[in-house]
Amino acid sequence: MSTLAIDGGNPVFAEKAHVPAWPPADMDTAEQLKEIYLSHAWSFYGKHEVAFNEEFAAYTGAASCAMMANGTVTLEVAMQALGIGPGDEVIVPAYTWIATGTSVVVCGATPVVVDIEPDTLCLDPAKIEAAITPKTKAIIPVHLYGSMADLDKIMAIAAKHNLYVIEDCAHAHGGEWNGKHVGTIGKVGSFSFQQSKTVASGEGGACITTDPELGEALGRISHIGYQYGAVQGQATAPPPMGMISHNYRITEFQAAILRSQLRDLRANTLLRDYNAEYLRKRINAINGFQVQARGRCANLQGYYQFAMTLDPAALKDGIDRAKVCEALRAEGVGVGGGGWGNLMYEHKLWSVPKDMYRVESFEVADDIVKNKLITMSLTWLMLPQNEIEMVADAFEKVMAVYGK
Ligand SMILES: Cc1ncc(COP(=O)(O)O)c(C=O)c1O
Repeated sequence: MSTLAIDGGNPVFAEKAHVPAWPPADMDTAEQLKEIYLSHAWSFYGKHEVAFNEEFAAYTGAASCAMMANGTVTLEVAMQALGIGPGDEVIVPAYTWIATGTSVVVCGATPVVVDIEPDTLCLDPAKIEAAITPKTKAIIPVHLYGSMADLDKIMAIAAKHNLYVIEDCAHAHGGEWNGKHVGTIGKVGSFSFQQSKTVASGEGGACITTDPELGEALGRISHIGYQYGAVQGQATAPPPMGMISHNYRITEFQAAILRSQLRDLRANTLLRDYNAEYLRKRINAINGFQVQARGRCANLQGYYQFAMTLDPAALKDGIDRAKVCEALRAEGVGVGGGGWGNLMYEHKLWSVPKDMYRVESFEVADDIVKNKLITMSLTWLMLPQNEIEMVADAFEKVMAVYGK
C-alpha cells in the first residue's frame, strides 16, 4: 500500500493533469467575434442566431430551435407557451439547480418536488404518480450531470394523465435516448449555454421542439412578439392576442461562439462518454463507490459532470467523504464533494416561501447530496488516455488506505 500524498507520499499526478480550459476558445472564433463587432449587427435575428437555430434543430432532430438569454428563461418560456400559469402544478426533481423550480414560480404555478432515483440521480418515475393532482399540468425531468431521466416511463405517465413533459437538458447536450437527441422526446427541450456547460457562450439558452406551431410560440414569446427572422422595427404579423412576450434575446456574439462549439460537440461527446465508461468500470470495482448510472436507454451520453456516490459505511472509522475528496485532490484529481450541496429547495439561493411549493418526496436525494455525492467536472473526461487511467489509479490508491 503506497503512502497517500496527503500523508507526504508521492502523488499519482507528479505534474498537473492536462485538464483543458473551459469553455474552449480558438482564433477562428475570435476572428468571427471581431467581424461581428465591426459589422455593427450585434443582435435581433442576426445571421449567426438564425444559423445556430437551424443548425441546433438539425443536430437534435427538432423542428425548430429558439435561442434565448439563458437556460432559466427557456424554462419560463416553455411553460408560458404551453399555457402553464397560476393554479397549475408542475412536478420537478428534488435535486437540481434552483432554476428548475423557480421558473415554475415565476410563471405563477406551484413546483411539486419529487424524489430522485438512487442510481441515475434523476427524477424517480415510481414516485411521480403519487404527486399528481387535478392541478398538475407538466413534469420537468432533469437529465442530471451525465445521466438521463427515464423518459419512457415519464412519457407513459404523462400520456396517462394528459401532462406536458418539458425536458431540462441544461446538462445533457449531445445525449441521445434510444437514438433520439434529448429534448425531442418531451414537448419542449430546454438547454443552458452558461459558461460551465458542455456547450457554453458565457450566458445563453435555447428551447427546441418537434412541434412547429409551438416552435413559433417559443420564438415569439422570447422575441417580444416578433415573428421568426423579423427585422427590428418591422413586425409584419402580430402575435396572437394575449401572448405576453419578453425580450429574452441572445446576441450574435454568443451565437457565433455556440456555432463553433456545435461543430465539435459530437466528437467531444463521444470522447467524454468513452472515458466515462472506462472510469465507470474501474471506480465501480472499488468497494463503496457507485458511479451515477447511465440513462437506461442512453446510446450516447452528454456529460456535464462525472458524478458518483460513496457509501460512508465503506470507509474506515474517522474517514468521511470530505477526507476522501481531500486525499484525491492531494493526488492531483479535481473532485468536488457534494455538488451544489443541497436539495433544490434547501439551496442557499432558494428564496421561495414555503406555501409556494410542495414537497412530495425527497429522502433519496437528501441522503445522496448530503452524505454521498462526489463530482468531477466534464473537463476531467477530456484528459489523455494515460491520465484517465491515473485518475482511476488515484481512486484505488486512496480507497486502499481509507476503505474498510
Ligand atoms: C438543471 C439546470 N436547469 C437550468 C439551469 C439554468 O440555466 P442558466 O444558468 O443558463 O440560466 C441550470 C444552470 O445551471 C441547470 O443546471
